[in-house]
Amino acid sequence: MIFDTHAHYDDEQFDADRGELLASMPENGVGLILDPGCDYESSRRAVELAERFPHVYAAVGWHPENCAPFVPEDLDALRALAKHPKVVAIGEIGLDYYWAENPPREFQQEVFRLQLALAEELDLPVIVHDRDAHADSLAIVREFPNVRGVFHCFSGSVETARELWKLGWYVGFDGPLTYKNAKKAAEVAAEAPADRILLETDSPYLAPVPLRGKRNDSRNLTHVAEKLAELRGTTAAEIAALTEANGRRLFRIP
Ligand code: NI
Repeated sequence: MIFDTHAHYDDEQFDADRGELLASMPENGVGLILDPGCDYESSRRAVELAERFPHVYAAVGWHPENCAPFVPEDLDALRALAKHPKVVAIGEIGLDYYWAENPPREFQQEVFRLQLALAEELDLPVIVHDRDAHADSLAIVREFPNVRGVFHCFSGSVETARELWKLGWYVGFDGPLTYKNAKKAAEVAAEAPADRILLETDSPYLAPVPLRGKRNDSRNLTHVAEKLAELRGTTAAEIAALTEANGRRLFRIP
């Protein structure tokens, strides 16, 4: 079975068919889905989906692009939400230096640190978004040696990935691995230790080739699994089994 460890089914792009689509996932080979929140409201919606569907789990957190309105009291609301039995991680959290209109870097770093501290306090793993902020993201997670997690849609160098693996962290692969310009990701995918890789869609975004540009959903992970298998000299079925076991271990899903 496939475990999609990162899919935003709380997104409005699924408003028309969310229920039927999620209900159909197990019969399409997708047996587990983790929906990470991007602010309080989307985290709350992710938890609602996890309550509704046995194969859906939630993560709660403030995404760096959305963290501008964050105030310290928001951490208490997040803590309360994180105690729900189907919340298995804090995420997605991190740093995004790509968009000029994003909150100031120092503020993103502050919100990131507060949420890493919350993960440590609650003994939960984290889902990290790192875009054009590899050095700062790595430096900040190093400040929290008791926290583990995944760098989702990993876009850094193989050298950065090696540092993460040494720290016991995971890297996630999505649609961009199938894109023609994915040289760095392909290198990371080929070298990654078997017990450190996860499959994820980032639905509704990042649809893999040959569906690039369309709305993405977890069924399309077969394309990413095939690409990973090709790069690692194995089969898509083995990649599915391996990444399911890795996801269950990291997120402690029996
Ligand atoms: Ni995401």
